Amino acid sequence: MKTKQKWHSDYKVIAESFIDFLDSTNEKEVLASAISPLIKNSQVIVDVGAGTGELISRLTTTKRKIIAIEPCKDYIPHLTKKLNGNQHLVIPHKIENVNLPHSSVDAILFSHSLAYLDGFKSSIYKTFNWLKPGGIGVFIVLSQTGNQMHIMNKFWHFFHPNRPVLNPSAEHIEFLLSELGQDVYRKRVSSIMNAKTKEQALKLISFILEINPERLDGQTKNVLNLARVSTDGEYEINAFHEVIFFRKKEKI
Ligand SMILES: C[S@@+](CC[C@H](N)C(=O)[O-])C[C@H]1O[C@@H](n2cnc3c(N)ncnc32)[C@H](O)[C@@H]1O
Repeated sequence: MKTKQKWHSDYKVIAESFIDFLDSTNEKEVLASAISPLIKNSQVIVDVGAGTGELISRLTTTKRKIIAIEPCKDYIPHLTKKLNGNQHLVIPHKIENVNLPHSSVDAILFSHSLAYLDGFKSSIYKTFNWLKPGGIGVFIVLSQTGNQMHIMNKFWHFFHPNRPVLNPSAEHIEFLLSELGQDVYRKRVSSIMNAKTKEQALKLISFILEINPERLDGQTKNVLNLARVSTDGEYEINAFHEVIFFRKKEKI
């Protein structure tokens, strides 16, 4: 039987290469810059699948309350530390087990978390109900283009034959939101990971593929072919992110 993709199930693998990833990428800055203008008037923001808080901590202000939903217990200490203001709330549960009052939040954010949920459709519907009229929904998924996606498309099933990638497409999310009567918008942003050496590039690729780096032995040439080599000899892996957003209509 096929099991679901679960980022947090390989926490040790992820944690070891996560620092390398953060050191090498501008992803969190790029995403924060893309989201920030969309939520500029939002005071209560729910972040579903907040991880270690690397993204949401860039979107805090003194006036804002962040409600971070994150089930992975290993991430909670990092998340709590990043969200160090008293006004914030960390909910250490799966979104499927969380209920907030109807019409109580100004923005909801799903950044690269939809693929990991037990049911992303029901989670979108549930959080839509939490949003106030005029509230903002933001969803981020990887584009079907870019080196990161090419690496995943080509190698994910080789390393995880029983764990399909369940990343919903931007079109699928747009369709669900239009079924809810919303006008939906989308913008695409790109981020880049840089690696000075082949060894660093392989570490990044193993992070993308959620495997221990030694599992790439025998595949190194093939995977490195999917990275780009810049004029100064660095390896570059780019990623495109689809940012889908809507403002909840006052009346449908
Ligand atoms: C790829 S990380 C994204 C982290 C962060 N949003 C970001 O963009 O930097 C996906 C996160 O979703 C969380 N997650 C997995 N299943 C979940 C669920 N059922 N409810 C809420 N979050 C979940 C994982 O633990 C992980 O922290």
